[in-house]
Amino acid sequence: MANNIFGIDLGTNNIKIYKRADDSIFVEKNMIAIENKKNYFAYGDSAFEMYEKAPGNIVASYPVSNGVIADIKNMESLLKYFINDLSDGNLKQADFYVAVPTDVTEVEKRAFYDLIKDANIKAKKIMVVEKAVADGLGLDIDVKNSQGVLIVNVGYDTTEISILSLGGIVLSRLIKMGGLKFDEAIRTSIRNEFGLLVGGKTAEKVKINLRELEKANKPAVVYGRDIVSGLPVEREIPTELVNNALVEPFNTIIDNVKVILERTPPELGADIYRHGIYLTGGASQVNRLASLIQTGTGLKVNLCESPIETVAKGLARVIKDDNYKSVAYSIEGMGR
Ligand SMILES: Nc1ncnc2c1ncn2[C@@H]1O[C@H](COP(=O)(O)OP(=O)(O)OP(=O)(O)O)[C@@H](O)[C@H]1O
Ligand SMILES: [Mg+2]
Repeated sequence: MANNIFGIDLGTNNIKIYKRADDSIFVEKNMIAIENKKNYFAYGDSAFEMYEKAPGNIVASYPVSNGVIADIKNMESLLKYFINDLSDGNLKQADFYVAVPTDVTEVEKRAFYDLIKDANIKAKKIMVVEKAVADGLGLDIDVKNSQGVLIVNVGYDTTEISILSLGGIVLSRLIKMGGLKFDEAIRTSIRNEFGLLVGGKTAEKVKINLRELEKANKPAVVYGRDIVSGLPVEREIPTELVNNALVEPFNTIIDNVKVILERTPPELGADIYRHGIYLTGGASQVNRLASLIQTGTGLKVNLCESPIETVAKGLARVIKDDNYKSVAYSIEGMGR
């Protein structure tokens, strides 16, 4: 039987793994929980379940930070657990295609390759694909023949703004802005307005439910700790307060998109104008972000079905379609 092939998008918040054998995409929290500083306690979604709730001796953390691998050892363990599970406990030789951010150092890029090589997952061939190129393919854009495609991937720790042309990347900027900062802005405004401390998961839930709440004309009901009394309380948070809290982080994204547009070679402008901006990444779904980007840039904004999975879908296309094999490259021996 031919080798199995995996495509990996190593997000700060979610790991996405495309598995060629059954043509499926697996998504779980990219998190590991460790007990007493040494024993693996849980990983993936079950580690996230404990996050912010576990006793002091269990520490749950994300080994990827700001889009790059920050904790190599834990990331290797996590990857091995996931690939082992996806192989039904029977690891076989496999090829790996990994998506990497563009606007990072050569050393940080190489770390993605080294991770797969060193994780004991029987990697045979390891290929790298620029994340934005995979994103474009995942959106079903014919990236090899398009001149001027603007993709904005709003993730957890980062937003990657890229201009693609003819299968390559013309410009790319990775900024430290994303879903986590949105959650933090919500927490800060609830604290300032209501004297209430809420957890990160609560803020995330409010953020995700915002559109529905607004439609239903209902406030967000949250539980937290009152700053003055120190007691747990329930409060109703108006959606307008949450919307206002998000304007500033949204503007950071809009300003950076404008900077990229200013630097884009004018010959690419026509296509970008015609197609508009493609929004991907989980946090691109937050209420009003798309419409504010549209107003702020004057460009049409395209949303997609499963924005968390577009990079993994693009890797699937590279793996399945020989026409796109050329966008993947090997970095073996590079930078050493
Ligand atoms: N329906 C939704 N509405 C709004 N936000 C959402 C929704 N679903 C997920 N998110 C947010 O998307 C973010 C995760 O998205 P994604 O998986 O694309 O990030 P990541 O790839 O792990 O991060 P990064 O690209 O920064 O490394 C989280 O902040 C989460 O709260
Ligand atoms: Mg991502």
